[in-house]
Amino acid sequence: MKHEIIEKNIGLMALLMVIAVSIGGLTQIVPLFFQDVTNEPVEGLKPYTALQLEGRDVYISNGCVGCHSQMIRPFRAETERYGHYSVAGESVWDHPFLWGSKRTGPDLARVGGRYSDEWQRAHLYNPRNVVPESKMPAYPWLVENKLDGKYTAKKMEVLRGMGVPYTDEDIAGAKDAVKGKTEMDAIVAYLQVLGTSIKNKR
Ligand code: HEC
Repeated sequence: MKHEIIEKNIGLMALLMVIAVSIGGLTQIVPLFFQDVTNEPVEGLKPYTALQLEGRDVYISNGCVGCHSQMIRPFRAETERYGHYSVAGESVWDHPFLWGSKRTGPDLARVGGRYSDEWQRAHLYNPRNVVPESKMPAYPWLVENKLDGKYTAKKMEVLRGMGVPYTDEDIAGAKDAVKGKTEMDAIVAYLQVLGTSIKNKR
């Protein structure tokens, strides 16, 4: 009749449920923090350059992540279309990562190198230029907005504190690397590097 005690005492039952679920969750989650496969960068991964890093922030601030995921799942239908499935070691230096889950448009995890820079520019300026049936919004202001690089070095310093291997030279040269560039230059540089550290694509 010990069971009856639990069944008739909702507070006790809730407590025991929390304990049971926590044990299950922790045995799945905790090991991930200690496995190389989830913590070590894949071979050939490079930290974003100053321009690519700014491009990533343009991507975030323009809400691209609301329509585009960056996470190829390990299913045939996905790998046939997008290339090698995403692995954790590709995004260990992404803070925050942009895996997302909403796919109004295609996944962009391996879009780097799929199109030319010119195509990317024309597409972002107005997607209908190159994809007539597209319902993606146009981003014409990207060519007008210039980067001032005021915070680029600071951003890289913060990322270095989180384990991204930026050198002192990277940080010292950050402002000059982005000065005079437009948001369009930056976001195209970012898109073109996405997913390129894993070579055997498609
Ligand atoms: C309202 C949803 C929406 C938003 C927001 C959006 N896109 Fe798209 N995107 C789409 C759709 C739909 C397509 C497919 C049609 C096309 O190619 O234009 C697409 C296609 C693309 C492609 C081509 C992918 C491929 O493999 O062919 C790229 C690159 C892209 N978007 C980048 C961006 C970037 C960068 C931003 C932010 C500046 C952005 N998108 C914002 C919906 C969106």
